Amino acid sequence: MKSFQIKSFEEYQEKYTLSVSNPDQFWGEIAENFKWQKKWDKVLEWNFSEPKIEWFKGAKLNITENLLDVHLEKNANKKAIIWEPNIPSDEAVVYTYKDLYHKVCEFSNALKSIGIKKGDRVCIYLPMIPELAIAVLACARVGAIHSVIFAGFSASALADRVNDAEATLVITADGMSRGAKLIPLKSVVDEALENCFSIKNTIVFPCIKSEISMKENRDLWWNDVLSGQSNECPAELMDSEDMLFILYTSGSTGKPKGVVHTCGGYMVYTAYSFQNVYQYQPEDVYWCTADIGWITGHSYILYGPLLSGATSIMFEGIPTYPDAGRFWQIVEKYKVNQFLTAPTAIRSLMGYGEKYVNNYNLASLKVIGTVGEPINAEAWHWYHEHVGKGNCPVVDNWWQTETGGIMISGLGNLSPLKPTFAGYPLPGIQPVLLDQEGKEIQEHDVEGYLCVKAPWPSMLRTTYGDHERCRLTYFSHYDGYYFTGDGAKRDEDGMYRIIGRIDDVINVSGHRFGTAEIENAINENDLIIESAVVGYPHPVKGQSIYAFVVCEHAYENADDARKSILNTVTKEIGKIALPEKIQFVSGLPKTRSGKIMRRILRKIAEGDTTNLGDTSTLLDPLVVDEIVKNAI
Ligand code: PRX
Repeated sequence: MKSFQIKSFEEYQEKYTLSVSNPDQFWGEIAENFKWQKKWDKVLEWNFSEPKIEWFKGAKLNITENLLDVHLEKNANKKAIIWEPNIPSDEAVVYTYKDLYHKVCEFSNALKSIGIKKGDRVCIYLPMIPELAIAVLACARVGAIHSVIFAGFSASALADRVNDAEATLVITADGMSRGAKLIPLKSVVDEALENCFSIKNTIVFPCIKSEISMKENRDLWWNDVLSGQSNECPAELMDSEDMLFILYTSGSTGKPKGVVHTCGGYMVYTAYSFQNVYQYQPEDVYWCTADIGWITGHSYILYGPLLSGATSIMFEGIPTYPDAGRFWQIVEKYKVNQFLTAPTAIRSLMGYGEKYVNNYNLASLKVIGTVGEPINAEAWHWYHEHVGKGNCPVVDNWWQTETGGIMISGLGNLSPLKPTFAGYPLPGIQPVLLDQEGKEIQEHDVEGYLCVKAPWPSMLRTTYGDHERCRLTYFSHYDGYYFTGDGAKRDEDGMYRIIGRIDDVINVSGHRFGTAEIENAINENDLIIESAVVGYPHPVKGQSIYAFVVCEHAYENADDARKSILNTVTKEIGKIALPEKIQFVSGLPKTRSGKIMRRILRKIAEGDTTNLGDTSTLLDPLVVDEIVKNAI
């Protein structure tokens, strides 16, 4: 363990003060805990106007030396990853730090053998199997930039990401096992690659042993590229500011953008935040139920825990298969000490009743976490009472793909608990609330736009291939601040509660989508003239998608039209982005300048039609009456 674990709330307050008054000293001392091949010339250099953010400039390192090699001396036989399969009766896989080191080295050599080198982009489209962890870490070891793409995305979404990253390799599997279903993956990759011209190879892991087609000279079997490779591989020397990975995420405009994280700062911050938020102790077993396709899996299944020498569980399955007790059965089986999941999972399991939780012994739990979306009071209390049995702190982790690590959260049992509040910022994080004019609100007990006023080590550096987009999206709304896109409340104690997105981003079961992204997908359907998408509150998913669509001609059969639209969205993005409600309308409420008044549509979707605000600026106010009348 590193020597930067905070032990009391008073110590947190001291550290926080130091981190703000002297960030160079604060982060410099923390960074001393890591293995650098060459130390930095300067801890931090920055300006938000370009933006230019450089941490530990001049330092040389490889992150995998810090999460594998450094543990070999004292912790070689400690469990690094415990992989729990989708089907409970299938055998779990356990990798010690030494096993993982050799597996990663072996696959690193395999990557090199097909010409992958520092700076190349590698897309990883795999289910939650151990090979996903190995592939990610092997990329980092050889200096290739990994871009993991969640295995629920469609061929079209995959192709967009591969093309944007100009990747040369896709690592995938024949298919995957998820709940009771088998889902093909390789055929999705084949379809995507028809439109991707940068790809030279794919590596395919036989996961479900299904029949697939392999294209000669392009597609390679995992076992074939591994065959004969040495299980030792020197780590590529990286600059602190070299890219470590790209992760695509949705924003309020255009196509998903490739958020870029770099080596040094991301390493320091994910380890620091993991150990402090989860108060991990050397013998503990930690489990985060996220998918490595999202940032939570990157930072808090792989990098943060492994950099800390932790035992991290990786779970292939879903919370409700074979029944709604699956999470709790795994907690009991491995005597899990720290557990992290999403509010949507908690709400879904709540719906099945307490008997599933009560069937298992959860006494090992010390800290339980929630992440990805606002947690409502009912779910918070259920989690605290039935999972934590009233004696585990609930740490509500607020952060984003762009922030790389947890920004606002309780620290284990050190911080005061307040239901539905994320709490206080971690050391080094300076959140502010801005008003409509962009002025900092100093008072407590207020709401505002959540921004951050100074850099922290794991923040995004750019959006891949388009630095201007990064500037416009995050640094241009309010001069001198990083803009999060969230609204928040700060209460009388200075604790933060995240209200939700204030931009055109919808958070469905913790997954981010831009309204424009879904509209673009729907508009690909030949029958559609135009569409407008908004989010509305959903009891389990947090938010769900409501689409208002204008069709080419009146439909004889609305059900067929709905099915056709759903197929289009599945094809363009994936099932995870399906609208729950589709309403056919003759027109959309637009201003005279042609802008869709989403505010009105949001109200209608929320079922609140009594006060639609000022509709006098609309081109055709009558259209609103029709929409209200036929609202679902
Ligand atoms: O709106 C916030 C919400 O999720 C957004 C970030 O999504 P993503 O980049 O996919 O990362 C999710 C995992 C970190 C934020 O802008 N969000 C995330 N965590 C919380 C949250 N909202 C409320 N409470 C949280 N703990």
